[in-house]
Amino acid sequence: MLCETRDLTKIYRGNHGVPAVDRACVSVDRAETIGFFGESGSGKSTLGMMIAGLTSPTSGQILFKGERISMRYPKEVRRSIQILFQHPETSFNPQLELIKSLTEPYRVYGLPYEYSEMLEYLSGFGIYEEHLYRRPSQLSGGELQRAALARILLVRPELIILDEPTSMLDVITQVQILNILKRYQRESDAAFIFVSHNSTLCRSFCDRIYSVQKGVFTPMDKEE
Ligand SMILES: Nc1ncnc2c1ncn2[C@@H]1O[C@H](COP(=O)(O)OP(=O)(O)O)[C@@H](O)[C@H]1O
Ligand SMILES: [Mg+2]
Repeated sequence: MLCETRDLTKIYRGNHGVPAVDRACVSVDRAETIGFFGESGSGKSTLGMMIAGLTSPTSGQILFKGERISMRYPKEVRRSIQILFQHPETSFNPQLELIKSLTEPYRVYGLPYEYSEMLEYLSGFGIYEEHLYRRPSQLSGGELQRAALARILLVRPELIILDEPTSMLDVITQVQILNILKRYQRESDAAFIFVSHNSTLCRSFCDRIYSVQKGVFTPMDKEE
């Protein structure tokens, strides 16, 4: 198993002890896509954020490649587990030109950087030089989400949490993004956790689905 959670629980302060995520046991294997399907406020993002190491659990465990991981993650684990957010502007510093944000992973992870190669890479996401010297507010939601995805895939993650990654986007961009993700999964055997409240999309994109209700994650029969 690439990643699993054991009785992972999150109780936010000020929420009268009511768990946002309640003893969740989920697992995802290499090359597999699991879905978290449930209504707004059920705890999907909270579990995704805990797995990504961005929110600390109240109790329970997260295992990655069989080893227990806890905040804050070592650099190699941070690189291996990436998250794509629903609101693409969340992924970018509003003050920075796109080029600054897109070159950051090269610096942080010491990847070989060459401007023309980066341009070539970004063109695969429909991002071109004209976009690079703009701030996030000067780009469309679709452009920003494609740029966010380009930045994530640059570091070759093994697990990607996709938190309603296309729900703010038009259908064409949605299809582009899902196609890029599927191609990446085929060539890399990456695992995906796909968070959605759209049952049709969840069924078509995921191998297995957990239904989520009030913080409780239950394996669901896909035919249900
Ligand atoms: N930072 C936070 N502080 C306090 N409560 C939060 C926080 N984030 C989410 N919650 C609460 O936790 C519950 C689950 O939220 P969330 O994980 O965002 O659900 P979903 O992604 O399924 O919409 C909700 O009741 C929400 O209000
Ligand atoms: Mg959410």
